[in-house]
Amino acid sequence: MSLFVLLSPDTDFALRMGTAVEGHLPGSISTFATDELPGQPEDLFAALGGALPDVLVLGPGVALEGALRFATVMDISFPSVTILLAAEADAELTLQAMRAGVRDVVSPGIDPEQLRVVLQRGAQASESRGRSTAAAEPASTAPRGRIIGVFSPKGGVGKTTLATNIAVGLGKAAPLRVVVVDLDLQFGDVASGLDLEPEHTLTDAVTPAAARDSLVLKAFLTLHAGGFYALCAPRTPAEADSVSPEQVAHLIGQLAEQFDYVVLDTAPGLGECTLAGLEACTDAVWVTGMDVPGVRGLRSSLEVLAHLGLMPESRHLVLNMADPNVGLSVKDIEVTLGLPVDVSVPRSRAVAYSTNRGIPVLQAPRRGDKATAALGHVVERLSPSDKSRAARRSHRRVVVS
Ligand SMILES: Nc1ncnc2c1ncn2[C@@H]1O[C@H](COP(=O)(O)OP(=O)(O)OP(=O)(O)O)[C@@H](O)[C@H]1O
Ligand SMILES: [Mg+2]
Repeated sequence: MSLFVLLSPDTDFALRMGTAVEGHLPGSISTFATDELPGQPEDLFAALGGALPDVLVLGPGVALEGALRFATVMDISFPSVTILLAAEADAELTLQAMRAGVRDVVSPGIDPEQLRVVLQRGAQASESRGRSTAAAEPASTAPRGRIIGVFSPKGGVGKTTLATNIAVGLGKAAPLRVVVVDLDLQFGDVASGLDLEPEHTLTDAVTPAAARDSLVLKAFLTLHAGGFYALCAPRTPAEADSVSPEQVAHLIGQLAEQFDYVVLDTAPGLGECTLAGLEACTDAVWVTGMDVPGVRGLRSSLEVLAHLGLMPESRHLVLNMADPNVGLSVKDIEVTLGLPVDVSVPRSRAVAYSTNRGIPVLQAPRRGDKATAALGHVVERLSPSDKSRAARRSHRRVVVS
């Protein structure tokens, strides 16, 4: 039994559709005699008492631009629904409609026999697409990606610099298998650090349609020229406030099912959404500068997290903006933290310049820059090569020069 749904103010067309279906096709028709489209597919389903149409006919008499937009969202979110457009269409409109996911464009004057054939084909397509979606589902349930979070209690120590360079570096090794997520929800600057102007942000990525369907979620990511994806922070602090830690946790899980690497940039401190990110991480990269308050702050944070049992299995300690002339040594830092420093990234003009240009240093590496080389070591530790696994096992003594 199929459900055919018509959205059109054209009563004559509705009568012909009735003749096409009733007594000939197994199923029923629901007609909405209006030229107004629902805000989103869910509104339509609600009006249908929670049912999903098999075939949805848009028009005649529905504004084309809105119909194509609605078809696009429906096609991405609910691919089992076959969409038909009833409109006077030239070749260009037909092409636009196909791109929007419309299966067939029919003339508003189509007779019932012809319409019956199109509706029957649409119902069969819906049935087979429903079957293939259901068959594909079990394969994608378990998260498989590595989730790498960059954290520090203090601001301005280089978290975004690290996260963006890690994304660039891993993106080279695993093209299109990496996504960087800006969890600095209020003041995130991943977009600026990567010179991106995202069409969609994390606000879109936690909407019900995206939370339910990873294909919709993927449509909200921004592709970077370096061959990886970015999910940038909400546009305003007010939008950011509406994102909950539960939504963040769900989002990360969804991305880890789709990508080999999910890289999280975070806000300073241990806010709720940062903790949600930390809990999901397979690897935590801790960043500190060479200043006593910063190192002490990190020690307190690590103590709290260990107490709460929130420390990811694999951790990496990065000393950033390392400088041998500030009265604090690597040894002092290691003793205070009770951890070895894994990589030391020296202060570098190339890094500061790269932030302002929106081009991470690993995207356009300058030979001889020690900070660029050190950021490359961080990526090596996180990439799957044997070399990096060996590096994780045997800690190299870090020297700040
Ligand atoms: N190794 C380095 N050498 C020189 N400048 C650096 C280095 N690392 C980071 N910076 C610069 O320090 C500034 C802050 O870096 P970044 O934005 O990465 O820090 P953050 O921890 O993300 O800050 P926030 O907490 O505000 O998000 C940037 O201008 C960046 O270019
Ligand atoms: Mg930052």
